[in-house]
Amino acid sequence: MNRAFIFDLDGVIVDTAKFHFIAWQELAKELGIEFTEEHNELLKGVSRTRSLEILLSLGNVTKTESEKDDLAKRKNDHYVALIGNLTSKDIMPGASEFLKEAQSKSIKIALGSASKNAPYILKKLEIDHLFDAKIDGNHVSKAKPDPEVFLKGAEALGVPAKHCLVFEDAQAGVEAAINAGMKCVGIGDESILKNTNLVVAGMDKISVEKAIEIIENK
Ligand code: G6P
Ligand code: MG
Repeated sequence: MNRAFIFDLDGVIVDTAKFHFIAWQELAKELGIEFTEEHNELLKGVSRTRSLEILLSLGNVTKTESEKDDLAKRKNDHYVALIGNLTSKDIMPGASEFLKEAQSKSIKIALGSASKNAPYILKKLEIDHLFDAKIDGNHVSKAKPDPEVFLKGAEALGVPAKHCLVFEDAQAGVEAAINAGMKCVGIGDESILKNTNLVVAGMDKISVEKAIEIIENK
């Protein structure tokens, strides 16, 4: 049976979530909007444009389309500066070992990330070659929880959705996986991630064998 693993990037393979948080928080401060780590959960897995809309609505702030473009650009410039020093040392524990083992077992591997910065980050981490297909924010028009990013990944790999397992750290991404008809492993905290097939604290806490069992429904 052809099987596939589809990986979110931020918060699953690399801990860029903290840099997104710093950059959004800085912008929130300038706009006089209170923005906590709890609020930040709402932005995880969500596109840049949609994230800005959520941030503005938290503070009941209205902006024109061109002001929004400018704010999103400023947040991204700050974020890109923050991730400028990323190296393979920033890969989260267990992630590259898991990818390599899956590859050695001929499991197809795709990236399914909302980030338009994903190609830059994968290059910095030196793990591009481990993916058979890469779908990111540059290839989709509908943000998670819409299943577009994962369905495009499955299509690029030629694997039916029901044989795909998604690894996600955001509730919006978990819902996108379910909407795609895929199984899902949550990476993070059980109290935050709902309706998954399993939640583990990190990629070092799950084996490739266990992940295959989830696809096979054992
Ligand atoms: C990921 C992150 C989100 C981020 C989104 C867009 O899914 O979890 O926090 O907003 O990507 O990222 P970008 O790098 O394109 O701004
Ligand atoms: Mg994520």
